[in-house]
Amino acid sequence: MQEEVINLKNEALAQIMEVSSFEELETIRVTYLGRSGKFTSLIKRIREVSPEKRKQAGLLVNEAKNTIVKALASQKNHLKESARAWFDPTVPGIKPAMGHLHLVTQAIEEISALFTQLGFVRNRYPEVEWDWYAFETLNMPEGHPARDEWETFFVDAPANPKFGQMVLTPHTSSAQVREMQRVKSPPVRMINIAKCYRRQIDASHVPMFHQFEGLVIDKGISVANLKGTLDYFARNFFGPERKTRLRPFHFQFTEPSFEVDVTCGVCLGRGCKLCKNGWLELGGAGMVHPRVLAAGGINPEKYSGYAFGWGVERTYMMKSGLQIPDIRLIYGSDLRFLKQF
Ligand code: PHE
Repeated sequence: MQEEVINLKNEALAQIMEVSSFEELETIRVTYLGRSGKFTSLIKRIREVSPEKRKQAGLLVNEAKNTIVKALASQKNHLKESARAWFDPTVPGIKPAMGHLHLVTQAIEEISALFTQLGFVRNRYPEVEWDWYAFETLNMPEGHPARDEWETFFVDAPANPKFGQMVLTPHTSSAQVREMQRVKSPPVRMINIAKCYRRQIDASHVPMFHQFEGLVIDKGISVANLKGTLDYFARNFFGPERKTRLRPFHFQFTEPSFEVDVTCGVCLGRGCKLCKNGWLELGGAGMVHPRVLAAGGINPEKYSGYAFGWGVERTYMMKSGLQIPDIRLIYGSDLRFLKQF
């Protein structure tokens, strides 16, 4: 009997140590100490023990019972404490990881919001495009040397008798004539933000990048309107103290043509190590060439327009003052880099 009592006690204690809920604890209590529990039936059997050993057996069973009662109580307290710790409202919460938009997407959203305020309509056209829209109607006939500047990817597909070869859009200007054809009669006020593709890859070039192209056509549009829009953009995108300037340049599809510069954000035009005498180059612009208007079915005698086209990545880097040693980082998947924006 003595051995039986000790075994039963150890068995119960081992189970009590293992529990993780009040329900399990209660089940153990009933199993051992309940009305038809294991100890209860043991106590009933004390009568069978010989009279001289009976007292000792009684003491032993009682002692075992008390140990179990104490163990149950202390385990119950322990459970209560850990339950309280679980609900401790002062413990810092676990923050779920939150993603955010890619920096280029952020830039695109910001740029389109700005031009939308000015009444531009955001539009997009095919990125697998005909030579016709990418070059021909932009006053760059087949074989024209100016085409070389757009290191174009040609699609390996049969050429169209009218539209020529299929290309990946090397610039967003391919949307100019498409937009004129869509609108048919001015005013035209388009902002086209899209992917561009060129055969180039090094620390400052990627084969796929983004441009945003503005096109405005109406009666009496002049360089003054272009300059006003550019200044508005510079003030709102880069900061109120920033200015733009137009430098003479050449594009086949604009006349006159310009390169647009913005004052350096660090020296504000005074000149420093990060800029060229106070200025940073943004990109191309100009007055839409009469031949381009005509190709889009718009009478150049009646209407005039301006256009500009700049790289999104470049423009965004200028804004943030970001000096990315290798532009390819933007299109890598390294979260240590991307998380910073
Ligand atoms: N398409 C030109 C480029 O890729 C930029 C440009 C757009 C210039 C519109 C003039 C007018 O460099």
